[in-house]
Parts: sequence; C-alpha cells; structure tokens
Amino acid sequence: MSAKSQEMATVAKAMVAPGKGILAADESFPSIKKRFDSIGTESTEETRRTYREMLVTAPGSQEFISGVIFFDETLRQATAKGERFVDVLARAGIIPGIKVDTGSKAMAGFPGEEVTEGLDGLRGRLEEYVRLGARFCKWRAVINIGAEVPTPAGIHANAHALARYAALCQEQGLIPMVEPEVMMEGDHGIERCYEVTVATLREVFHELAEQRVVFENMILKTNMVVPGKKCADQASPKRVAEMTIQALRTAVPASVAGVVFLSGGQKPEPSTAHLNLMNSMAVTHPWPLSFSYGRALQDSALKTWGGRAENLPAAQKAFLHRARLNGLATLGRYSESMEAAA
Ligand code: 13P
Repeated sequence: MSAKSQEMATVAKAMVAPGKGILAADESFPSIKKRFDSIGTESTEETRRTYREMLVTAPGSQEFISGVIFFDETLRQATAKGERFVDVLARAGIIPGIKVDTGSKAMAGFPGEEVTEGLDGLRGRLEEYVRLGARFCKWRAVINIGAEVPTPAGIHANAHALARYAALCQEQGLIPMVEPEVMMEGDHGIERCYEVTVATLREVFHELAEQRVVFENMILKTNMVVPGKKCADQASPKRVAEMTIQALRTAVPASVAGVVFLSGGQKPEPSTAHLNLMNSMAVTHPWPLSFSYGRALQDSALKTWGGRAENLPAAQKAFLHRARLNGLATLGRYSESMEAAA
C-alpha cells in the first residue's frame, strides 16, 4: 500500500471511530434558508456564520464527533475572533469535510427522477479544497420512489456520477463519502424501500469497482430502510434495523471502511434508536455503523438558538446532548431514558 493510500485508510477509519460520528453541516443556501425560516431567522452570511460557529465550537464535541461536513462558504469562514473553522476543528482533532456536488436536477427524459451535477471542473475544485484543509468529501445522489420510478437508467446515471466523483477524490488523497439517498417521500411500504435500496447499492458498487475506487478508502453514506412517510403501515424500530442490515449485507462489500446513515427526515429520537438497535444485534457487522446526520443532530440546537445570541450556549448544550446520544448509539449503549437528561 502506498503512503498516500495508508494515510487515506487512517482518515477513513478515524471518521467511523467507535463512539463517534459525523455532523452534516453542509446545507446549501436554499436548504439553510429553509431551516432558518423555521425559526424566523433571516439567512445571511453572518447568521449562517454565527450558527455554524456555535456548532463548530461546542466544547468537548470531539468526544462524539469525528468529522464535520461543510458547504463551500462555511469551509472558508472563521469564528468571530478570526480563527478559521477548519483550524478550530483540526485543533480539536475533528476531521473537516466538504460537500462537492452542485445539487440534483431533473433528469432529462425521466419524469420524477433526478441526477446530481458537479463533475465538470471537479478536479480543480478538489485541489483547492485540499489546500483549504478538507480531508474528505461528500456527493449526494437522490433516488425517488414512485409508481414508475426509479428506472434502471436513473439509478445508473447517479451511480456512475458517484463513482466518477469518488475516483477523483481518491486521486487527490481525499476520502469520498458516497451518498446515494433513497428518499422517504411517498406512501410505499418498507419492502419497496428495501428493494430500491438494494438495487441502488448494487449499482453504486458495480460502478465504483469499474472506476477503480478503493473500497477501504471510502465511506458509504446511505438511508435506512424505512417505509414512505405517508405509508399507513409504519414499521417497528426492530424491523427497520433488521431490514437495513439485510440490505447492507446483500449489497455492500465487507472491505468498505465504514457505513454512516443520513437521517433523511426521520426525527432525532428514532434516528438514534435505529442506529443503536443495529449496533446492539447479536451478530457483528463487517463495517463500523455510525451516523452522519444533518437535521437529526441539529434540530434541537437550531430551535434552542432561535436566532438569538443569548441562546448560543444553550444551543451548544442541546447539540452536545444529541451528539452524545448518537455516539452511544454507535456502541449500542443508548437507551430512551437518556433522552430526558438534556
Ligand atoms: P439529514 O440527516 O438531514 O438527512 O442530512 C444528512 C445529509 O447530509 C444529507 O445529504
């Protein structure tokens, strides 16, 4: 193994170290505006900076947080005192990451499907991100479920782009976090989500292998297998955990460095409970299973902050509480009774 490859393997392992997971704080301008709208706060460069400073400087977060995914603007921002966020993280031993896709767009000729953009000029952008201090990247593909979708062509286009992105990341010594997200929107049952998740993951790993991506030096970020939000038959937490593990065992090579989950619209408590169940099964899994939550880690902190400076310390406390519970869930040591101790 080359020195570069060895260094990458070390970073990948550290991203999924026992007891820790990843904070997704890479909301694009429209997404962060939506979050801020929910608390009646205007999204400006300064409010976004203030909010992300709260997350990045939460004292002691390195106990539960191994890495943070930034958005381009955030990677370049600094604390009020002028220390770059990247340096704050590095000082705490937290690994900085960056979202590098440029969003998903309607796929021509395939109504209801989307394909993620951002490959053009990506090599140059990655070179800059390395200079700015990023050590891993993220690219998210969106797979919608409907009566006629996804199609094999839709899954293929997204898997191919993910693989091209991942190969470029590894060329630069960056760990690709490969994120195919099967969406929760719809009234489909859990079986349908299982079927689509397995088909998607199989295609993604086929394309990754074709593009010579080294599985030991990548992280898979994926959805849990859950029924659609509008499905009348909501599955028990045990069933979600079992079917998610079944899907992963069916389609994810054992050599992948780690698997992290997105929350994807699940509320914070079930996101934690599901992860905990998966990590407390009698069987051992081939990969560490951890979290890379956005909303499920930030919801309570965002509400507690409410856009007011005097609430920043309380918001940090709320964030740390949620991070701690998820850290425990990576070890299978979370219980619902811990929720109250905020
Ligand atoms: P959510 O946990 O809010 O789904 O966000 C995770 C993420 O990074 C989606 O790309």
